[in-house]
Amino acid sequence: MQGGVVLLLSTLVKSNPVLPTELVAPSGPIGQSQSLWPNWDSVLEDATQAPVILLVDEVELNRRLIKALLKASGYEIVEAQKPSEAFRVLGDRKVDLVIVDQVQQEMTGPEFCRAVKRDRRTQLIPVMITSSLQGLENEVAGFESGADEILVKPLQPMLVRTRVKSMLRNKALIDSLEEAEAILFALAQSVEHRDRYTGLHCERLAAYSIALAQAMGLNRSDQVALYRGGYLHDIGKVSIPDAILFKRGLLTEEEGRTVRLHTIRGEEICRPMKTLAPVLPIIRSHHERWDGSGYPDALKGEGIPLLARILQVADIYDALTTSRPYKPAFTHEHAVALMLEEAQRGWRDPELVALFAEVAKRTKEPQRAAWINGATMEESLEAMRRELSR
Ligand SMILES: [Fe+2]
Repeated sequence: MQGGVVLLLSTLVKSNPVLPTELVAPSGPIGQSQSLWPNWDSVLEDATQAPVILLVDEVELNRRLIKALLKASGYEIVEAQKPSEAFRVLGDRKVDLVIVDQVQQEMTGPEFCRAVKRDRRTQLIPVMITSSLQGLENEVAGFESGADEILVKPLQPMLVRTRVKSMLRNKALIDSLEEAEAILFALAQSVEHRDRYTGLHCERLAAYSIALAQAMGLNRSDQVALYRGGYLHDIGKVSIPDAILFKRGLLTEEEGRTVRLHTIRGEEICRPMKTLAPVLPIIRSHHERWDGSGYPDALKGEGIPLLARILQVADIYDALTTSRPYKPAFTHEHAVALMLEEAQRGWRDPELVALFAEVAKRTKEPQRAAWINGATMEESLEAMRRELSR
């Protein structure tokens, strides 16, 4: 995956002269590029913040024993006497590894593990279950709950240290991938902010499209994809020269072709990130038209991915209700009337446009105004983020 990140950065730098050239992987034999790959042991050792391990065990003696085993490794160890206390710790701070005993009064180790893995905020934290119960059945129950490791007591010091080190190494890798995703989001926002007319465009798109998805009863992963798509759909514009992107007046045929390429470039930029796979159809197909006259693939009707159609409706509504150099901001009623007209002309999914008009109508005026002017956008997006991460 680091290869993917290096490739991603080199793609971005090649297509955008503004990015620092130091980020480009050196060209030449593969062996040379591989020297850029981080050494995960040294990443762990050099980390300014020691990895945090949460110990969940009712028996103080057990906690002391594990602490003593890991003492020399420089980890920060946080203790919880029971699962409810552990959930509070997980809600309050970053934890890199959980070690939980199988036998607890409030809930068993596997039940605790299942709850950790069910929550999007904690599901990537590795969990080790320690157990004094022998037997295949217990091991199966532990792994079925999503545990990453099960160690049977009496604990072998060397084995505990080796497994903890290896689990933390994987966690560091996961964290680095999340950071790579964060870099992409930051880049996408910088692309949007270059266009001074669009303001809180990404935030509004996320809000509109999730409102529409919720009205359609779409599942949470679709809503998360739309949320991310709101930010990332135009990331490919990073490859368009400013002279074309900000040109006043008509584009030449060649310039138009360059602008239209942002859908394909955006997909290429995000493709190396596996977690963004559900967002790729949105990025590629958000300029397709219902009658097949859109780009880049001239898809028609329901052949256009649904999430791309949803984001497109949100995108058009936003373009109509905000002011641009060539037009004032239209009222909600005017915008909806124009969208229904476009749907009749065959450009948009008529059912989706009608539903969006209905959703917007049902949304009370102050909230709709907040949608448009972004006054409470941060607040509502934060609420959505919380809702989606449950
Ligand atoms: Fe676009």
